Amino acid sequence: MLHTDILDLLNRQINKEFYSAYLYLSISHYFNSLHLNGFEQWTKNQAQDELAHGLRIYNYMLERQAAISFDAISSPDRQWDSPIDAVLEVYNHECSITRSIHDILKAAREHNDYSTEVFLHWFVTEQIEEESMADKVLQKLKLIGDNGGALLMLDDQLQKTPPATDMQAF
Ligand code: FEO
Repeated sequence: MLHTDILDLLNRQINKEFYSAYLYLSISHYFNSLHLNGFEQWTKNQAQDELAHGLRIYNYMLERQAAISFDAISSPDRQWDSPIDAVLEVYNHECSITRSIHDILKAAREHNDYSTEVFLHWFVTEQIEEESMADKVLQKLKLIGDNGGALLMLDDQLQKTPPATDMQAF
């Protein structure tokens, strides 16, 4: 039986993961409007990853016979001033998700919930990768500045990048 603190945090994390999918999809739509199809594909792949993260927690809660709540998912922004603004939002969002995962892990330790602690290890590792990928794109965009040709080259590179967990080659 999950402690009510853990139950509440996991339920909120499911909601955050599905919000993350919504945010990535909205950013993907923004990149589509700019005809930056590599950025569009990268963020669309990320949206699918986020749905998988939410489902992973959902399945864990089912296994633990925990009560699952289905709270409303917030609407993400739909417009950004520039590609760098959109990617900065991705990076900041991933950092906030990392803090959220760490908070659940801390609570699991406080309640001696070793099963949830072990379950969360995958997410801790995943967040390192997600923050790192967003930061790499962000730093490249900073170097690119107003250079449209370089932006298109990065877009092409993102288009050729394999989805999700194999992004370390990027
Ligand atoms: Fe599921 Fe990008 O955090």
